[in-house]
Amino acid sequence: MKTHLINFCMMVSLAFCSFTSAKPDLSFQAQKYVTQTLTFEGKTFTVRAYENIIYVTNPVDTVYQKMNIYIPEEYFLGKKLNGYTAETAPIFFPNKVGGYMPAQPATLKEMPMGMGSNRSPMNGMPPMGDRRPEGVPAMPQKPSTVVAALSKGYVVASAGARGRTLKGSNGEYTGKAPAAIVDLKAAVRYLKFNDKLMPGDANKIISNGTSAGGAMSALVGATGNNPDYEPYLQLLGAANGTDDVFAVSAYCPITNLDHADMAYEWQFSGYNTYKRGGSMQSKNSDAPSMLSEEQIKVSEQLKTLFPTYVNSLKLKDTKGKLLTLDADGNGSFKDLVINYVIASAQKALNSGKDMSNYSFLKINGNQVTDLDYGAYLSYMERMKTPPAFDALDLSTGENMLFGTSMIDKQHFTEFGQKNSNVKASRVDEVLVKMMNPMYYLGQKNTTNAKHWRIRHGSKDKDTSLAISVILTTALQNKGIDANLEFPWDKPHSGDYDLDELFAWIDGLCK
Ligand code: DHB
Repeated sequence: MKTHLINFCMMVSLAFCSFTSAKPDLSFQAQKYVTQTLTFEGKTFTVRAYENIIYVTNPVDTVYQKMNIYIPEEYFLGKKLNGYTAETAPIFFPNKVGGYMPAQPATLKEMPMGMGSNRSPMNGMPPMGDRRPEGVPAMPQKPSTVVAALSKGYVVASAGARGRTLKGSNGEYTGKAPAAIVDLKAAVRYLKFNDKLMPGDANKIISNGTSAGGAMSALVGATGNNPDYEPYLQLLGAANGTDDVFAVSAYCPITNLDHADMAYEWQFSGYNTYKRGGSMQSKNSDAPSMLSEEQIKVSEQLKTLFPTYVNSLKLKDTKGKLLTLDADGNGSFKDLVINYVIASAQKALNSGKDMSNYSFLKINGNQVTDLDYGAYLSYMERMKTPPAFDALDLSTGENMLFGTSMIDKQHFTEFGQKNSNVKASRVDEVLVKMMNPMYYLGQKNTTNAKHWRIRHGSKDKDTSLAISVILTTALQNKGIDANLEFPWDKPHSGDYDLDELFAWIDGLCK
């Protein structure tokens, strides 16, 4: 009996030893790099490329739970770049998450998000760049976000993350919520854990992403050090360290998913034609389709839920006045959304753009004085059918995001489940919370990023304009530095204004 127990203990400790010795080391290996020579805007420079670093000790998936880190050579030679040193350089942290799909880390070769990059679209089709029909000219080659950031003297660290379609070797799903945010937080911990061993200031991490990646960027910024994620991080063997970041850059964040359906219908109810497509979908030249009677009814029901939600937030404008909506969806909150659109048109006009094509704008001399909101929505065009996110037949990517290890798709709202057309379960509410930055603003045991830059194109209908306005206003109301613009006529895309983005970062970090 006794020997049996001793043998068993030896076996366990041997197994433990061999297991621990096989674990990847989370210390940054400064000598394991490849030198890369890059050219940006006519300037040639050298970086050290550290690629495919597994950032946790117990990875579930080594294809995605890895990070690429690029560091300007200057910082190893005691030199300065753009006024930064090895100690002060910000760490730019872009993710490539698209459509809540699994995402590889960014590399030196990629085009920016939304420019035919390798982001995975919502419908699981290959990227636009690979699907260009014959005869369609190539997209203009814009510089890689990573290379542009390096040229500014930033250290660039980009982490891959698991996503909604990923399966383990046993056939179980491994990338359902909250996998992607847990992965990105683990990567932040790696950077903080290695702050002394790596050039770059881990107290100056700037998260960046577009669409689902914008949502992830916002979540990274909102949920710093919150204990909800701790058990997941422990399980992965994340590095010891904090996981809050300094700043957030988010383009068209597809976020606040539990309220996105009602926000979409608040915006588009009454617009009963839709055009599937946009930059993330293959069929973007489809003729418009009509909503069915049933869908129109659903739209009307969802629309009425939105004022209650907005009013419950008790958001305030810059003068401290409550932002509200009446039962018809009109009120000061809607006025604020319209003001953001007008400000965007004004900025375009100031830059010299010919605005005469936009007949829904009222322009007096050099001043955009008003907007015909209804006509603006017609120009924008509805893209999604109601409910836009928690589909009653479980057909969206978001339904897949909220699956479990055994169940591919679930509902994630009360409305979705109550009105479901299929036999479906509903995800645990905690997971919906853990995917929504709104629940983590100003919470105790949480460190929110101090600075936020949110952009949502004025022609982007992948989610309601209200989503970014709510997030920005909630941040501002907590005393956090947050700014939002709706760049004029931009469809669903990101990283289209890198000069402005980097000027904002320099303004915060220099
Ligand atoms: C993305 C686009 C969507 O319309 C959506 O619902 C979720 C994600 C994306 O482009 O990442």
